[in-house]
This record gives sequence, C-alpha cells and structure tokens, in this order.
Amino acid sequence: MKTYWPFQRRAAGMRGRLIVSLDVGTLAEATKLVQTLRGEVGMFKVGKQLFMHCGPAVVQMVRDHGSEVFLDLKFHDVPRTVAKAGVEATRLGVRMFDLHASGSLDMMQRTVNEVGRVCRTENLRRPKVLAVTVLTSLSHDDLQRIGVSGEIQDQVSRLALLAKEATMDGVVAPPQEAEPIRKLCGAGFLIVTPGIRPEESEPAPSDDYPPATPEAAIRAGADYLVVGQPIRDAADPAAAARAIVAAMQRAVATVPEVSLEGPESA
Ligand code: C5P
Repeated sequence: MKTYWPFQRRAAGMRGRLIVSLDVGTLAEATKLVQTLRGEVGMFKVGKQLFMHCGPAVVQMVRDHGSEVFLDLKFHDVPRTVAKAGVEATRLGVRMFDLHASGSLDMMQRTVNEVGRVCRTENLRRPKVLAVTVLTSLSHDDLQRIGVSGEIQDQVSRLALLAKEATMDGVVAPPQEAEPIRKLCGAGFLIVTPGIRPEESEPAPSDDYPPATPEAAIRAGADYLVVGQPIRDAADPAAAARAIVAAMQRAVATVPEVSLEGPESA
C-alpha cells in the first residue's frame, strides 16, 4: 500500500497540526481554554454555537492570544452569498474556514476566487478554504431520502474530487475517509479529521464512522486533527493535548515520506 505524506517537517510540526474545538457556550469559557492550551496546540476551532453567541469577538480573542482560528460555520447558500461570507471570514483573519461541497462547483470556485481576489487587493493572508463532504451524522438511509443513491463513501469521493476541481485547499472528513481521499486527491490536498479519541473504543454497531485514535488518523494521511471533548473535559487539558501530540509524533515517525509537496509548515 502506498502511503502519501505531504509534510516536509514531520514530528516537529505535530503540535501545529492539532486543532482544539472550542465547543463551549461563552467567551469566558473559550478564553479560559485558549489561555490553558495556546502553547500546546496549533489552532482553535470556532463553530456555530460559540460564533452565534460571541460573534467575531471570539475570533479576535483567539488571535489576541497569538493562536489561529478554524472558523467552522459550514457555509451553504447561493454562490454569491457564500463567496461574500468567505471574504468576511478572511477579513477576520481566520486561518481556515469551511463550506459544504454539495453547494456546487460554482459555489466553491466563486468563493476561492473571490477570497483570492480580496487577499490580493487588500493585502490579506489567504485562509485555507475547506469543503465538508458528507456529514458523519448522515446514514445511508438519510442520503437515500434526499435523493443520493449508492454508498456514502462514493458520495464522499465524488464531493472530494469536486472540491479539488474547484481548487479548494482540502476537506474536512472522518479518519476512515482520509486514505481514499489522499489517494484520489493527492499529496497537497489538506485533510482535516474530527472524530478522534485517544484510546481505541468499541464502535457502536450503527456507527458508520466510529472514532479513531490520533495514531490511526495520522497513519491514514490526515494533515490536521480536530479534538474537542477528550481535551476539554480532561482533568488536565494541557497534559491531554500533549499526550495527543506525542501520539501524533509517534505515528508520523512510522509513515514513509513520499512527497515534499504540501501546505506550509504550521
Ligand atoms: O467529539 P469531539 O468533541 O472531539 O468533537 C470535536 C468537534 O468535531 C466537534 O465540533 C464536533 O462537532 C466535530 N465532529 C465531527 N464529526 C464527528 C465527530 C465530531 O464533525 N464524527
């Protein structure tokens, strides 16, 4: 089996590849987590709940602490509207934001193009624009009922390729899809995986995408791991984050490096 590995800096960069999900309800709680973890991880994910509660102030708070933001608002609308939302995310200074690949090739292309244009004219840093393929909460039956026949994996592959065609920077995908996406989309395409648990656990029989360990996700070709509850709810969140980074480092040491292409080191 050929393994694709896009990093030039391997074990040393793993801390930068860990994204902690700020799934809390208030700015005060988010600030506490960021203060505890900013030296241990590379980025913080801000999702709909926290953003709806705090607005752009939460992005500013993370940036004021010298950290980076993955703005996980999963845009999906008519192309012009998503492109404009992407531009505003860019102006906030986020490092990554995401949208639904199922919103269309045009929606993705316009967003990438508009973000690129605004970065050039306003001299802004260009964020990574990621596509969500299929939400892991959707079952085979859910997809059938919205008119998507066939296997979930085929739909994930189709949308990952569409994102690549739109020149998106990568996808958000469960660890189990990382290897097929890497094979389809190549070494420079970012794969960000949530659904991580430090220890192997017994999967629920109905779970299409059971959690994976950090080691498994890295070996499958993930570039960034998103971790929430195992760090947030740990007695010592900083120690929990360090343990996950150490697991990522152990895993990356076993992956043969086959490509020097890829994202800039984080
Ligand atoms: O489960 P955990 O707290 O680690 O999840 C971190 C983030 O990843 C959450 O924001 C959650 O919504 C997201 N997630 C996901 N797909 C999964 C599991 C978690 O998008 N299968």
